[in-house]
Amino acid sequence: MIQWKIPLTDIELGIRQRLAVAEVLKSRWPRANGVVQAFEWALAKYLGAGHAVAVSSGAAALHLGLKVLGLKEGDEVICPSFSFAATANAILHTGATPVFAEISGLDDLTLSPADLEEKINPRTRAIVAVHYGGYPCRMASILELARRHHLFVVEDAAQAVGAEYAGRRCGTLGDIACVGFFADEGGILITDNPLWASKARLLRSHGMTPAGRGCDLGYDMLDLGLNCRMDEVRAALGLSQLETLEENNFSRTKKVQRYRELLRNLKGVRLPFAQANGHRPAPSLFPIILDEEIDRDQFVSSMREAGLQTGLHYPAIHQLSYYRRRWPDLRLPLTECASRREVTLPLFPSLSQGQIELIVKKVGGALKDCRGQSPAKKKPPVKPTHRLPRERQTGQRHIIL
Ligand SMILES: Cc1ncc(COP(=O)(O)O)c(C=O)c1O
Repeated sequence: MIQWKIPLTDIELGIRQRLAVAEVLKSRWPRANGVVQAFEWALAKYLGAGHAVAVSSGAAALHLGLKVLGLKEGDEVICPSFSFAATANAILHTGATPVFAEISGLDDLTLSPADLEEKINPRTRAIVAVHYGGYPCRMASILELARRHHLFVVEDAAQAVGAEYAGRRCGTLGDIACVGFFADEGGILITDNPLWASKARLLRSHGMTPAGRGCDLGYDMLDLGLNCRMDEVRAALGLSQLETLEENNFSRTKKVQRYRELLRNLKGVRLPFAQANGHRPAPSLFPIILDEEIDRDQFVSSMREAGLQTGLHYPAIHQLSYYRRRWPDLRLPLTECASRREVTLPLFPSLSQGQIELIVKKVGGALKDCRGQSPAKKKPPVKPTHRLPRERQTGQRHIIL
């Protein structure tokens, strides 16, 4: 394993977290002590939401969220391709078809309302709006489109707990949301709808009656569910992280500001999300976009050699092998461009000023060393020429290059 001088992220596991977990482990059956429920109540209160249903992962929260909306085969759900694979996988697991839409641009890597509108058709049932890296997406336009076309809005706020849009916390703007924390503490489904919340509670535990397994009264199964409950250890970790969430989000925001000041005048790099437009991001990632002529692989290796870990958020979903096999002709030029040029720099609450300066110095050096060698430069950039109205079996519109 590489020993990083500065890792991409670092999780706060202090004495508070350790004590919370130890307390749970003292119990004989770490499932029945109400820690999960306490976490759900605390999170719902923090977000200002009606209900929180804790499950084993962000992906499970998305899957259950889409399932309780009643999505099924033949339905289409529009989502960005510039996200983690789980966003689209959750749609496929319901039987529905993901329809990938573009990002707004290299300065705003979230779902483009204009492209979203283009892709709405009579089969569309829902939109999954991803708050990329904790930066809220253009919810006013997305919600307006959804209202006009009678569509559900599911927020993928897996990386955006604490972010605010128009004074409301992300996760409470649409119909259902998935939120997550930073140390794989599972995922939480958020909704104001009590029926959806109770259906999600049923489905997260096999679809069984609440008494459940191991109870001397036996149990019944009311619906076809999954097993994706959150365990109490994760809930205890989540609860203790909630206490420091605001402080940590503030700290990450300050680090992002410092990065921006230092990187602003560097040639060869672009800094997305410079404009918060009055909304409050909760940055969990700090993405930069390299100029086309910078060789990203070489840039990343050069950072790695200096012991500085970077990340790629994200490889476009439609270009991952599984999705490429299913949608071989789909092209999303802006998403592909961002996906080819994005690099994520380290960001975590305890990242020091000195570490940020060291990273920026290395970025500056790497940009100079890696100029003029991008494989993309060797190929002339491709431009969209015409559109086909529908893609083969899926009904998905796409652009042919
Ligand atoms: C945007 C987004 N959605 C969903 C998920 C899925 O979360 P999990 O890994 O907890 O299943 C992630 C995970 O990083 C994510 O980044």
